[in-house]
Amino acid sequence: MSNIATDNPGNFLTEQELAEIESEISHLPNRPSAAIDALKIVQSYRGWISDESLSAIATLLGMSAEELDGIATFYNLIYRQPVGEKVILYCDSVSCWLMDGDKVCKKIKQKLNVDYGETTADNKYTLLPVTCLGDCDHAPAMMVGDELHHDLTIDNIEEHLS
Ligand code: FES
Repeated sequence: MSNIATDNPGNFLTEQELAEIESEISHLPNRPSAAIDALKIVQSYRGWISDESLSAIATLLGMSAEELDGIATFYNLIYRQPVGEKVILYCDSVSCWLMDGDKVCKKIKQKLNVDYGETTADNKYTLLPVTCLGDCDHAPAMMVGDELHHDLTIDNIEEHLS
C-alpha cells in the first residue's frame, strides 16, 4: 500500500474529505470509532475505496490499514473495487426469494449481461446481492443507487432500470 497515503493523509485526501472526517471524529469518543463514517465520506467522493484511500484513512484514524480493511470488507456497502455509476443491491433473502425474486434477478442479469459482482459494459450498473432490505411486505426489492424499488416482477423490471 502507498507510503504517500500512509505517511501523510493530507497528501492524498482532499481538504473537504479531511474536514468531514474530522467533524465526525469530533462527535465520537475516539478516532477509530469514525471508521465507517470516514469510509463512507471518501467513497461518496471517489465511488469506491482504493488501497491508497484505505491507507490514508487508517493513518488519519490512528489504526492499521489491515484493521480498517477488516471493517471495510465486513460492511457490504463499502466498495473495495471500482463500481458503476449506480450500484444495484438486489435482495436475495427469503421473503424476496419466495416471491420469485430469483426469477426477477435472472432477468436483470440477462438484461444487463452481468452476474453478481460485475459491472455493465457501459459502466452504468454494478449488481450486488444484499441481505434483507427491510421491505419484505413489497418483495422482491432492490436498491438502485439511493432509491428503493419494490414489488418487482419479470414484467415490470425493465421500467426500474431505464
Ligand atoms: S427479504 Fe427482501 S426485503 Fe426483506
